[in-house]
Amino acid sequence: MKIKKAVIPVAGLGTRFLPATKTVPKELLPIVDIPAIQYVAQEAVDSGIAEVIFVTGRGKDSIEDHFDEIPELEQVLEERGQTEMVESLRRIAEMIEVVSVRQKRPLGLGHAVLCARDLVGNEPFAVLLSDDLIDSPSPCIRQLLDIFDEKGESVIALRRVLEHEVHRYGIVQGRQLNSRLYEVENMVEKPRPGETPSRLAIIGRYILRPEIFSLLEKVTPGRGGEIQLTDGISELARQKKVYGYEFEGEHYDIGDKLGFVKATVAYALKRAELERPVREYLRAVISKR
Ligand code: UTP
Repeated sequence: MKIKKAVIPVAGLGTRFLPATKTVPKELLPIVDIPAIQYVAQEAVDSGIAEVIFVTGRGKDSIEDHFDEIPELEQVLEERGQTEMVESLRRIAEMIEVVSVRQKRPLGLGHAVLCARDLVGNEPFAVLLSDDLIDSPSPCIRQLLDIFDEKGESVIALRRVLEHEVHRYGIVQGRQLNSRLYEVENMVEKPRPGETPSRLAIIGRYILRPEIFSLLEKVTPGRGGEIQLTDGISELARQKKVYGYEFEGEHYDIGDKLGFVKATVAYALKRAELERPVREYLRAVISKR
């Protein structure tokens, strides 16, 4: 079965980036000059998924606006001869079909995914979080889709983290099937380093079967009073097979300040016009310390 829809939840409060996120959605903070949400939408498109469901909330309308045409801006740029920029803006407006649904209160990621139930329908779907940027030759969600195509079951993205980082992630306990593939047996949300079942962290890319919705409905609020997606997937893993895939690629957790800075530097170094000056600047800064 072909997966046609991607859910991108964007209704969180973004408290770790206050005061920037007081009025600007976290998802629109740019890495160099591209907002985080656009990298993630591009990943969906590059993986063959063009229908995106945003789960939005108060103050987040500008995320949808980002994927609209702005004729008056295009006209000004045309008059100035900035045709390349006009084309680039048009490509953004054409890249995805946007539909959206509101999450009236940020009750957690699991609840946000549940809000998309009617728009997804009774079919498997992808979930992408714009907190996670993944730089890889084959888009991360495409890598998961390849496993789904083979197995027909839910697949979640995994990354091996350091012992002192496990407390920031959902951690998977699983049976290793090959060098990158695991069958998920259990999941723990943000364990203490001494109590972690593994160092395999869940990263914000998922292919989920629609059975997840009825399970999310039954999840009771966990840590921080939020309905956790991890709890729903744990239950799914008890009823059906759930696979974990250690994807290939460099991961940046841009929901975290250090991760955001790292992504900014790494993505700047990938840009032809910035690579040299940024490298020189970094060298100069470091030699001064
Ligand atoms: P986070 O756990 O990073 O929460 O959400 P947050 O509120 O965005 O940020 P902090 O931790 O307060 O700084 C992961 C993703 O899930 C979405 C967020 O928008 C983000 O993309 N989310 C989270 C929702 O859509 N609704 C929620 O209730 C919670």
